[in-house]
Amino acid sequence: MAVVHDHRLDSATGRPAATGMTSDSPLSCSALNKTFRLGRTELEILRGVDIAFPRQGLNTIQGASGSGKSTLLQILGGLERPDAGTVQWEGQSIYDWSRGKLAAWRNLTVGFVFQSYHLFPELSALENVEFPARLAGRNEPEKGAHLLDQVGLGSRLDHRPSELSGGEQQRVAIARALRNNPALLLADEPTGNLDVKTGREIIDLLLRLHSDRGNCLIIVTHDNSIAALGEQRYQLELGQLTRG
Ligand SMILES: Nc1ncnc2c1ncn2[C@@H]1O[C@H](COP(=O)(O)OP(=O)(O)O)[C@@H](O)[C@H]1O
Ligand SMILES: [Mg+2]
Repeated sequence: MAVVHDHRLDSATGRPAATGMTSDSPLSCSALNKTFRLGRTELEILRGVDIAFPRQGLNTIQGASGSGKSTLLQILGGLERPDAGTVQWEGQSIYDWSRGKLAAWRNLTVGFVFQSYHLFPELSALENVEFPARLAGRNEPEKGAHLLDQVGLGSRLDHRPSELSGGEQQRVAIARALRNNPALLLADEPTGNLDVKTGREIIDLLLRLHSDRGNCLIIVTHDNSIAALGEQRYQLELGQLTRG
């Protein structure tokens, strides 16, 4: 079993707690490396990233544009294989799983919110929210409708993305991300395409829904004020993650 870095102190001895998988850190990664090659150019984006996330709470990862935040989040969420290193979920290395198992894990355990919403343009708000449930063989549109109500769009169920504002589309995306009640919610610059006021409303909504559910939320942002909200704050710079 790979070691998970756990820097908490053992209450009995006052020394760092024994390393090893703990139930408090369902998601961890160690020694992550990622390099993109474009022609002769090599971009080493991640250089030995180690981190363990608590089961509950808000984590923020801040870094300049191009520092590798999206790449790291995609690797953590099972969307992009690292060149080296491991990502572990509940002690299992996710990139050792079959494609099918990884896809099922993503659908049931991970919710994604992206900067540019990534809604299906041909589907209504409700159909977008129901998509992950249908993938999992569930058909309970009343749950999707309830989620849309919770994000303030209870009267817009039949509207397509093109009939909604950017902030409304992001609300649909948040409802969709939460549809399967994921233990892990990953948000990549969720306010990046929104004006300041709408962005603030989206962050408030994410934090409210997150605190209702008590899952692990990781927000990636270049914005200082959003990064400052994190209970655990990290900086990504020159391919390395440091505690901020
Ligand atoms: N698929 C890819 N192929 C080549 N280069 C990529 C690819 N994805 C990202 N990059 C490059 O890696 C760097 C980090 O990208 P990204 O993770 O999107 O950064 P951030 O989200 O912090 O802005 C950027 O220089 C970007 O151009
Ligand atoms: Mg990015």
